[in-house]
Amino acid sequence: MIKRVFVSHQMPGARIHELAELCDLNVWMGPGLLPAETLREELSTCHGLLCMLTDRLDKSLIAGMAKLEFVSSMSVGFDHIDVQALSERGIPLGNTPGVLVETTADAAFSLLLAAARRISEADRFVREGHWRSENAWSPEFFTGKDVSGATLGIIGLGAIGQAVARRAAGFGMKVLAWSRREKNIAGVEQVGLDELLLRSDFVSVHTALTEATRNLLNADRIATMKPGAVLVNTARGGIVDELALSEALRSGALYAAGIDVFEQEPVPADNPLLTLPNVVLAPHIASATTLTRARMADLAVDNLIAALKGELMPNCVNP
Ligand code: DGY
Repeated sequence: MIKRVFVSHQMPGARIHELAELCDLNVWMGPGLLPAETLREELSTCHGLLCMLTDRLDKSLIAGMAKLEFVSSMSVGFDHIDVQALSERGIPLGNTPGVLVETTADAAFSLLLAAARRISEADRFVREGHWRSENAWSPEFFTGKDVSGATLGIIGLGAIGQAVARRAAGFGMKVLAWSRREKNIAGVEQVGLDELLLRSDFVSVHTALTEATRNLLNADRIATMKPGAVLVNTARGGIVDELALSEALRSGALYAAGIDVFEQEPVPADNPLLTLPNVVLAPHIASATTLTRARMADLAVDNLIAALKGELMPNCVNP
């Protein structure tokens, strides 16, 4: 029997064309994000789903998918999916780790540098015509914070955290890391979370969003961060209390932040982080290079192709 597969967004990469030959393929062509209602309708008849991190697969949606046999998400993170609900029905879930590691680490480091050196603020200053002789170069003009010689605390020492540590070493930073498991990485001192927050001039978040890490950086923990520290988050918004972070940034307790991910995405216009000059903002683009997105798409399709052939997915979250 030919299986029906639904893909929730147009995809880059080459492998999607092979998928079309193996199944009855239906791709959402947009515009914009797939509405939850359309996803629900499509899923009532399909056997396979290739989704994005913007598609929320909760328990009730999964319960309504009578025919569903396999799911692949074009993302490394899978907090948008109730994995337990899939596992209970024996439905494998594929994801796309590995291929986005270096690209995401580059983005985290870009945000770190931009926040430390006030690049977004300076860009706005020049663009908006404020750079005039009465408001020009002076010894303290747009002074920022040194990265070289500073201490970076990495929360989560998986592949992306380790890639950030390699970049930090190149910038002459001392690297601390907090991870649930002992990792023994050269040049990285593993410490407890409290110690990391106390000692780090820069903190970069690289842990998955799970029930254990939700609100990990809450108001109490943010209050223990080193005065004048910079926070970078390219992992997931739900890990950091955005209100507490914006208050710490507004009061000057923290120097700046570089934020690519938000509790709610697209970010609502009234999110307090959007009003602060010392926050560099990005719309969840840490893995967004043409090559990496094509690799993620191909890997997501490979997971589906394996499932269609009755084989194990190359990257299965719940084998
Ligand atoms: C992922 O794949 O989970 C990332 O957040 C995409 O950038």
